Amino acid sequence: MAYVNIEVRTEAGKVGIVQLNRPKQLNALNNELMDELGAALKAFDADAAIGCMIVTGSEKAFAAGADIGAMASYSFADVYKGDYITRNWETIRSIRKPVIAAVSGFALGGGCELAMMCDFIIAADNAKFGQPEIKLGIIPGAGGTQRLPRAVGKSKAMDMALTARMMDAAEAERSGLVSRVVAPDKLMDEALAAALTICEFSQIAVMAAKESINRSFESSLSDGVMFERRMFHATFATTDQKEGMDAFVNKRKAQFRHQ
Ligand code: CAA
Repeated sequence: MAYVNIEVRTEAGKVGIVQLNRPKQLNALNNELMDELGAALKAFDADAAIGCMIVTGSEKAFAAGADIGAMASYSFADVYKGDYITRNWETIRSIRKPVIAAVSGFALGGGCELAMMCDFIIAADNAKFGQPEIKLGIIPGAGGTQRLPRAVGKSKAMDMALTARMMDAAEAERSGLVSRVVAPDKLMDEALAAALTICEFSQIAVMAAKESINRSFESSLSDGVMFERRMFHATFATTDQKEGMDAFVNKRKAQFRHQ
């Protein structure tokens, strides 16, 4: 697939990078871009050489939200009957290898929601997160009312969604929305280092950890703990578990074969 709205590359043959590329619109997210993003991530997910993915934008904007120009004339009948605007956005949830969001600049509306769909967010210190849909007479439509309170708690989520206040990178880190904050010129280095670290580990263990953590959002504590226990026990069926523990016992670096 030839991409128009994103740029795709690999680093070290192991990390798949997708850069959103509509700079004039501050990477506003339209269906074409989201189709391309979904296709690129799925292709990386299916590529045995790839262990981790990074989604990023430009220094000024990760993404300034769904494309308001494209949405402006839609009626209720259009969006409801056609399940318009965000119907293809959840593709990212089907990706089984880790996806890191490297966020610089604005991550607003659907941009914040897209970042939250990734497994964790590394932010540049100029990042600004927000759900300003209320200013447009709408509400978040790609999971913002669900993922934001889970990430930062009810009070801050309500504050952001009801007043359209933006959260800067320091507050986002304090609140648990982002995992690390770095200088803008170090953002990709930091995200890449995290991705390469992940690639060093057993891919089966990495995927099982991701699946188990995501399960915590969908289940009761006891069901989630049981799911984790089954996955934990299953890792003992892998050669990577034997390798990891033997390497520790014999004080050498493990060489995982993802089996
Ligand atoms: N959709 C379409 N175009 C957008 C856009 C968006 N979400 N955000 C910015 N742009 C465009 C602007 O229209 C402008 O285009 P022109 O140069 O052709 O006029 C260009 O990007 C640069 O934007 P600004 O001139 O506004 O730049 P700024 O630095 O002054 O402000 C900003 C930056 C604060 C991000 C401002 O652009 C802004 O508020 N954007 C809208 C943010 C927003 O409301 N996002 C939510 C969208 S709805 C949504 O996402 C629904 C959902 O949950 C899925």
